[in-house]
Amino acid sequence: MYNPVKITESIYYVGVNERRKTLFENQLPLPYGVSYNSYLVTDEKVALIDTVDVCYFDVFLKKIESVLGNRPIDYLVINHMEPDHSGSIRLIKEKYPDVQIVGNAKTFEMIKGYFGITNNLYEVNDGAILNLGQTALEFYMTPMVHWPETMMTYAKADKILFSGDAFGCFGALDGGVIDNTINTEKYWAEMRRYYASIIGKYGVPVHKALEKLKPLEIAAICSTHGPVWKENKEKTIDTYNKLSQYEASAGVVVAYGSMYGNTEQMAEAVAEGIVAGGVKDVVLYDVSKTDASFILSDIFKYSGLVIGSPTYMNDLLPAVEALLRKIETRAIKNRIFASFGSCTWAGVALKRINPVAENLKWDIVGSVEEKQGLKPEKYNDCVSLGLKMAEKIKK
Ligand SMILES: Cc1cc2nc3c(=O)[nH]c(=O)nc-3n(C[C@H](O)[C@H](O)[C@H](O)COP(=O)(O)O)c2cc1C
Ligand SMILES: [Fe+2]
Ligand SMILES: [Fe+2]
Repeated sequence: MYNPVKITESIYYVGVNERRKTLFENQLPLPYGVSYNSYLVTDEKVALIDTVDVCYFDVFLKKIESVLGNRPIDYLVINHMEPDHSGSIRLIKEKYPDVQIVGNAKTFEMIKGYFGITNNLYEVNDGAILNLGQTALEFYMTPMVHWPETMMTYAKADKILFSGDAFGCFGALDGGVIDNTINTEKYWAEMRRYYASIIGKYGVPVHKALEKLKPLEIAAICSTHGPVWKENKEKTIDTYNKLSQYEASAGVVVAYGSMYGNTEQMAEAVAEGIVAGGVKDVVLYDVSKTDASFILSDIFKYSGLVIGSPTYMNDLLPAVEALLRKIETRAIKNRIFASFGSCTWAGVALKRINPVAENLKWDIVGSVEEKQGLKPEKYNDCVSLGLKMAEKIKK
């Protein structure tokens, strides 16, 4: 029934779309959904590259059968064991009992732990080659992109890279799979948000993986989420290259929490200063309203960050604390930083915020604290802080 989507003469897309789930990993909003991508490489032998979330097994199998008919699958290559891709392993094995599961030693530990599967395993290591007939699959270990077992598979004859989560993005595929057949605009911000949320802690391993892949000639990147990158493959690699090195463009995120608007007034004053200083890209986020994944995504995008919080029960406002923890976890590098806070009797917020920036060795421009309502002196200090920030950003 399904029209098989061809990536090349012998490689097919058999992934599925998720538009129901509101939160990926039960925490990250999915305004445009997400796709779980899987691919079939057909030759004398047939290899399935990764599976999909188990909820979609039924349609997944129908797509596989629309390509293969009654032919069996010989190999199931597991590039990544996170359940959004490994979820259908057990059911694939039930349907195709002779399938050999291809993975590395770490993959197999996890397959045993998740599914109790210990037989029909075909172990590969870095540089291993699996012949399917005319086509051979080469394997590249890319540990911690973003789990220990993650690897990539390269179909040499067609120059297709099956990259796992790397180069992936949120956003379901709305009728088209390959980038040159669709408008890709919405996917770029969703690629950065995906990276910032899920991969962002692992900049060093990602950079290592990119170095390892450099010698490969690539015609298309087939990730496990989002479009197949053909005409945008260089842009995709360049995006990852920059993200993995925490490279940012000139701009500032002002992220603040505020119960009654006092801290918010300070945020606006700082932002006025930044714009007055000649920086056009300034984004204010109320952390209680905008999900942290969107804020983090912009923190990965822009070189400047300003954080503000009221003092709340002798501590930070919890939503600001949560954002700070996420920033720390990702060890974001090379940011120009400032902070501000509001209190009524004894300010604690700045004492909690500033050490995070110090530990990350950021360039700290300054801080402003106000008691009770924002008054002219501190209003002017906030504007000056923004102006100083802008000076550094423009350099
Ligand atoms: C539940 C609660 C707890 C607070 N705890 C403290 C505190 O421990 N120390 C302090 O100086 N101010 C405390 N405050 C006062 C706020 O920090 C102060 O009103 C601040 O201006 C609020 O900023 P906002 O208008 O941006 O929410 C608390 C306020 C509330 C509502
Ligand atoms: Fe993953
Ligand atoms: Fe994934």
